[in-house]
Amino acid sequence: MAEVKAGLQNVVIATSEICSIDGAQGRLIYRGYDIGDLAEHSTFEEVVYLLWNGRLPRRAELDQLKQQFAQTRAVAPQILDLLKNLPPAQHPMETLRTAISALSLYDAESEDMSEEANWRKAVRLTAQMGTVVAAYARIRDGKEAVAPDPRLSHAANFLYMLTGERPSEEEARWFDIALILHADHSFNASTFAARVTASTLSDMHSAITSAIGALKGPLHGGANERVMRMLLEIGSVDKAEDHVRGLLAERQKVMGFGHRVYRTKDPRATILRRMSEELGRRTGQVKWFEMSERIEELMVREKGINANVDFYSASSYYVLGIPVDLYTLIFAVSRISGWTAHVLEQYANNRLIRPLAEYTGPVGLKYVPIDQR
Ligand SMILES: CC(C)(COP(=O)(O)OP(=O)(O)OC[C@H]1O[C@@H](n2cnc3c(N)ncnc32)[C@H](O)[C@@H]1OP(=O)(O)O)[C@@H](O)C(=O)NCCC(=O)NCCS
Repeated sequence: MAEVKAGLQNVVIATSEICSIDGAQGRLIYRGYDIGDLAEHSTFEEVVYLLWNGRLPRRAELDQLKQQFAQTRAVAPQILDLLKNLPPAQHPMETLRTAISALSLYDAESEDMSEEANWRKAVRLTAQMGTVVAAYARIRDGKEAVAPDPRLSHAANFLYMLTGERPSEEEARWFDIALILHADHSFNASTFAARVTASTLSDMHSAITSAIGALKGPLHGGANERVMRMLLEIGSVDKAEDHVRGLLAERQKVMGFGHRVYRTKDPRATILRRMSEELGRRTGQVKWFEMSERIEELMVREKGINANVDFYSASSYYVLGIPVDLYTLIFAVSRISGWTAHVLEQYANNRLIRPLAEYTGPVGLKYVPIDQR
């Protein structure tokens, strides 16, 4: 009998050239480049090119990708109508899941599984994820969607479509870094969900819809929003430690901490921590960072558990003025680049993903007619 590996922990199910995580050393590498190096020097667009193509773009290649994004960012007017006409969601991820799935109905290549068509769909989906999120955020507030501005970077344009105002260079750059940090993370749950769907040779929109469903959960992308709700509930720096001690005493999980792979610091959290502090100081809202810092110190001291990517992204997004219930959607605005990279890799070297289960249910039962049960 095969050994059961609950949660597929430590199970290697395929090879991949996209992303590597060293959980013991706390290192994250996209296509050979350290995440710290990319966060400091590159842009989200460069990282998307890197994830898809396996190397950094030359200038003309980067310009071409930016142009493709600019040309494909706008969504079909029917998608905006859909966003206007859907009933209010209990959570905005429901709307995102529905709208991204609906994009395939307006995509003439949705069922074209040629390599070229799949690359074009990867471009469109990556370009449009932010457009859908920003449009939704405005429409639910009774405002008109803001058309994308082709002169802006992906990060700046998203903030512009969300708020209707052009962000400062500094805000746009911090958000760009947040997008870089969330772009990929190897076989995480949502990427794996996308690859499982792609492995049946289902279409790219279906794979991405599966990924969004997986990202939504509180143990994955849903954690960042819950972190901010916790900080808001705590309210002040002096109450932070007692609150978290209370959660631990009730054996509740503290959102934004722990990781399946990292056994030390998550390198993304280290960069986001700086972002949270700097943005907090510049906007006069440093208390969210200070509260977070206290919680982190306590979690490390008393539980030996480190902050993950969701912990300091919460306070960073808050001071950038992003509505709290959109945080997980922001994750998708970035992670779509990694999802599509993985779907393309899966298609290029496909094997149906189909694991086994060890059956532990009853055996040998005999059918009993309904009136005799
Ligand atoms: C990410 C996560 C699901 C990884 O889970 P996992 O590898 O299955 O590990 P487990 O949930 O089994 O946790 C192992 C131990 O650490 C504890 N632990 C893990 N994360 C914890 C957290 N955030 N708060 C408190 N305790 C935590 C568990 O209670 C468990 O303790 P036990 O052995 O005494 O029961 C888990 O750390 C978690 O739920 N974190 C909070 C949600 C979150 O931030 N998710 C975003 C991940 S990027």
